Amino acid sequence: MTPVLLDCDPGHDDAVALLYAVRHMDLRAITTVYGNQTLEHTTRNALSLCRLAQLDTPVAAGASRPLVAPHITGGAVHGKTGLDGAELPEPDRAPLDMHAVELILRTAREHRGELVLAATGALTNVALALALEPKLKEWLRGITIMGGGTGTGNVTEVAEFNIYCDPEAAEMVLRAGVPTWLVGLDVTRRVGVSAADIATLRVGGKLANTMADLLDFFRASLERVQGVATASLHDPCALVPFIDPSLMEYRHTNVRVELAPGIARGMTVAELRRLGNVPLGHMRGSAPANVYLAREPSPKLVGHILQAILDVDAKLN
Ligand code: RIB
Ligand code: CA
Repeated sequence: MTPVLLDCDPGHDDAVALLYAVRHMDLRAITTVYGNQTLEHTTRNALSLCRLAQLDTPVAAGASRPLVAPHITGGAVHGKTGLDGAELPEPDRAPLDMHAVELILRTAREHRGELVLAATGALTNVALALALEPKLKEWLRGITIMGGGTGTGNVTEVAEFNIYCDPEAAEMVLRAGVPTWLVGLDVTRRVGVSAADIATLRVGGKLANTMADLLDFFRASLERVQGVATASLHDPCALVPFIDPSLMEYRHTNVRVELAPGIARGMTVAELRRLGNVPLGHMRGSAPANVYLAREPSPKLVGHILQAILDVDAKLN
């Protein structure tokens, strides 16, 4: 199975991504970043989830704020802890006594050419790691990101939360030259779970029922805050290329981040102009492809993700 490091801001959908990685990949390390809540909360949540899922995966805390942008948090949706809605176990260990960037570099060095870095929060840790050690570009097999999108945003009219938290970091990562996969809101909003979908987890044990409690909270929050009836499983979508590529269609194209202050700051601008087979090189502003951009999720993806939670649950004593 593909070795993966998950850089995340748990976060309800990050918790699902973690279990999806446990079920289908070789989860080598977890690093945390501010975002859905403060770094203290997201790190505590990661450690609680590890205890709940009986994981001894190393966890290291990373950036507590963006490179340049003002600090925002997603508490409105994820609650005051960042993972409200269920009784979670107290962490039974501390994070490693090293920064997330060090753990990213150590893990990538140990798995040269094989490690996938999955980023489901702000990209600050990933940008810092790439800036600190340029060799990281060769050590990584790829970077796969949940962020951005080609439709409406969820922070502003056009900006998605993970990118908007740290647009400069996101642009640094997209420019780094590492094979990169990107799944945005236009796709992840179509990978949602209804109350009935969530209820299917209730056949499991403690882990599955805790995840059902978390997803019920997440879904109710999204209904209250954004008026949507399903809870989008944003973050596990980032892992699909390395679990089952048949579950998502991608297009190799150029994506850049708007950094200028103003109404479009944090927007991901994708080259989606298609004039038949006419090469776009002559089009104004066209730039070389730098990401595999998710375009179409399979209708099987929701079921595949929920089954992964039940599978991990079934393995616990
Ligand atoms: O916009 C959705 C993203 O922001 C997800 O990663 C969610 O967990 C939050 O971090
Ligand atoms: Ca997240």
